[in-house]
Amino acid sequence: MKIAIAGASGFVGSALIPHLERAGHTLIKLVRDKSGRQRNAVFWNPSQGEIDRSSLEGIEGVINLAGESIMGWWTEAKKERIKNSRIAATALLAKTLCKLKKTPQVLINASAVGYYGDRGAEILDEKSSSGSDFLSEVCRQWESATDVAENKGIRVVKLRIGTVLSPEGGALKKMIPPFKLCLGGHLGSGKQYMSWISREDLQGVILHVLANLQVRGAVNAVAPQVITNAELTQALSLALHRPAVLHIPAFMVKFLLGEMSEVLLGSQIVQPCALKESGYAYLHPDLSQAFQAWFP
Ligand SMILES: NC(=O)c1ccc[n+]([C@@H]2O[C@H](COP(=O)([O-])OP(=O)(O)OC[C@H]3O[C@@H](n4cnc5c(N)ncnc54)[C@H](OP(=O)(O)O)[C@@H]3O)[C@@H](O)[C@H]2O)c1
Repeated sequence: MKIAIAGASGFVGSALIPHLERAGHTLIKLVRDKSGRQRNAVFWNPSQGEIDRSSLEGIEGVINLAGESIMGWWTEAKKERIKNSRIAATALLAKTLCKLKKTPQVLINASAVGYYGDRGAEILDEKSSSGSDFLSEVCRQWESATDVAENKGIRVVKLRIGTVLSPEGGALKKMIPPFKLCLGGHLGSGKQYMSWISREDLQGVILHVLANLQVRGAVNAVAPQVITNAELTQALSLALHRPAVLHIPAFMVKFLLGEMSEVLLGSQIVQPCALKESGYAYLHPDLSQAFQAWFP
């Protein structure tokens, strides 16, 4: 399949590309760098509404992983970038796909389990309602921005991705150095649930939804096993052979991180019902299997 990919340079995209190529797909990267230095790249500048549409003629699938990182202090300007780099960029992409001479078969668009907001111990599936905090609103509008493509007959998959774990990047890589210095510990009560997926499984899920034509709409991209923050802390402590006795109280997390602390202190039990129904087989259905592979 000829596939265009946005956000290709990121933590998920950079690892996905060789995986897609090995599966026989031909890739075109949507890049924000106009220099033309990159191979198989098509220019877009979502913040200015610019995209080289003619170079996208002939694509059969699109994977959109673009978005300003949510890490960092959420100033009003940062929040605008978090929103626009997802909502306006997705709207631009979806509108462009509709104008191609032949519309692609599928658009796989990233979203996040942040869609559900902070829900304590409630069990959530793809039919559950959305939350009311900043990220929930961003995810709602991010997903809605794909509607034009869906209305045009493109199969749209909205991947509500959990925290992506890999020792090579993302949240887990940031946790390793303090844990190695015996400075690891749980955040807040530690009882908040975290829905996660290994980066290898997220790659598998993307290939799975590309190939399975019956999969469309919201898809929770999470492992079947949900863990609490304290359980993650304990598992990493065991894997790295370091004690993790510290505890950062919620007020301190809020003081240090501001509004972004909602990501670390919020709780969600998200179930991957659509993936289960469509028969996705996990490499890492639980954290102990993943940690055994990563920290032998
Ligand atoms: N990692 C997670 O735990 C996680 C969890 C839930 C959802 N997600 C979502 O999954 C997607 C991929 O995640 P990731 O971890 O790979 O993210 P990432 O490492 O932050 O990469 C995102 C990519 O988006 C592009 N980008 C960055 N700022 C942008 C901006 N202001 N405007 C337009 N594009 C911008 C960049 O690609 P280029 O430079 O190539 O344009 C960047 O490499 C994101 O949309 C993220 O929100 C991730």
